[in-house]
Amino acid sequence: MDRKHWYDAGLGHIWLPYAQMKTVRPPLPVVRTEGCRIILADGRELIDGVSSWWSACHGYNHPHIRAAVERQLAAMPHVMLGGLVHEEPLTLARRLAALLPGDLERVFFSESGSVSVEIALKMAAQYWINRGERGRTNFVAFRGGYHGDTTAAMAVSAPDIGMHDLFRGLLPRHRIVDLPVDAATTAAFEAVLERHAGELAGMIVEPLVQGAGGMRFHDPSVLHRLREAADRHGLLLIFDEIFTGFGRTGALFACAGADVVPDIVTLSKALTGGTLPLAATVARRHVFEAFWSDEPKKALMHGPTYAGNALACAAANASLDLFAREPRLAQVGAIAAQMAHELAPCRALPGVKDVRVRGAIGVVELDRIGDREALRARFIDEGVFIRPFGNVIYLTPPFVIAPDELSRLTRAIRKVIGS
Ligand SMILES: Cc1ncc(COP(=O)(O)O)c(C=O)c1O
Repeated sequence: MDRKHWYDAGLGHIWLPYAQMKTVRPPLPVVRTEGCRIILADGRELIDGVSSWWSACHGYNHPHIRAAVERQLAAMPHVMLGGLVHEEPLTLARRLAALLPGDLERVFFSESGSVSVEIALKMAAQYWINRGERGRTNFVAFRGGYHGDTTAAMAVSAPDIGMHDLFRGLLPRHRIVDLPVDAATTAAFEAVLERHAGELAGMIVEPLVQGAGGMRFHDPSVLHRLREAADRHGLLLIFDEIFTGFGRTGALFACAGADVVPDIVTLSKALTGGTLPLAATVARRHVFEAFWSDEPKKALMHGPTYAGNALACAAANASLDLFAREPRLAQVGAIAAQMAHELAPCRALPGVKDVRVRGAIGVVELDRIGDREALRARFIDEGVFIRPFGNVIYLTPPFVIAPDELSRLTRAIRKVIGS
């Protein structure tokens, strides 16, 4: 079907994410991707500064992932994990367990980041039930945090993100506090733990970088503080590495980079190199042992239809091959250095509040962004795909981006803010 037909005929029937459908600018029709480029129906090529919501770490159409998925599709696209297993999810589980630090060694597969968070929360709550402690169903979570759009994930996200406030009444109420980054916030955090420890199952945090909440960075020492407090109060510590996992912050996982082992970790996004939907909730041995029993009701009663999907797991295994075989973390280091150098001049531009870089995440924070849609359109005019949100303009490029392509992204930011 030609572009005019599928676009015009379909647009009146799709409901787009995060969009006021009445006023949103018409989305750009894409016909192809290639490396770090998005190719539009009218022939324009955009350099991708977002990696499709932070997932396409190897760029698009990597031949190794494509071949693995094609092979798997010919053999078996999917069978349910109930009563059956197959090679790709077992191999992937083994490889993830080997790559993650400590005894994070039991992998539960699902199909999206939000669902993997739901599973982590459910796992932590049932951990206490199975150990005979009822009433520990609440969580400590952090201002600026974002864990997804399903209800349990929304409830542990900061209420001002994603308009979660609208759903007050529907959502369970948890303890949302400031990250303990200094003496005052640490005292407030400790006070909440003291007061509510008996009702808490655990705490959940995005380690090192709070992404959707504004690309805010914190130090590894904050994570050590959380680990220490969780141990002192006997709480489970959940790291949501859906954004930070697979090299984005400079280490393969933020937990390894910070030298902190959480009790549960969630992974998604770059797990399949941005090709197919897949997520994982990975538990440490002591968490899994709370479910190991002769009593059927102590099992984790969760089972997404597409858990361990063969195509997605084949893509993820191929993606891990690329991390082993190609110099991804060195590429992240080079991207960080180049972004730090090329975004630094933004500090002198009017309306710029902060410029910061961690791994392959470059951020220019403004005092405010008036018309985000107009700003996004200006980047398109510059031949780049950059999608500011809140008051930040950010880059999360594919790790394989060439220096001259990255320069085009940073130049576009300097030009658009400066003019
Ligand atoms: C840290 C974090 N957790 C959870 C999610 C939700 O993942 P998904 O969109 O796959 O449901 C996101 C998505 O941006 C995320 O950044």
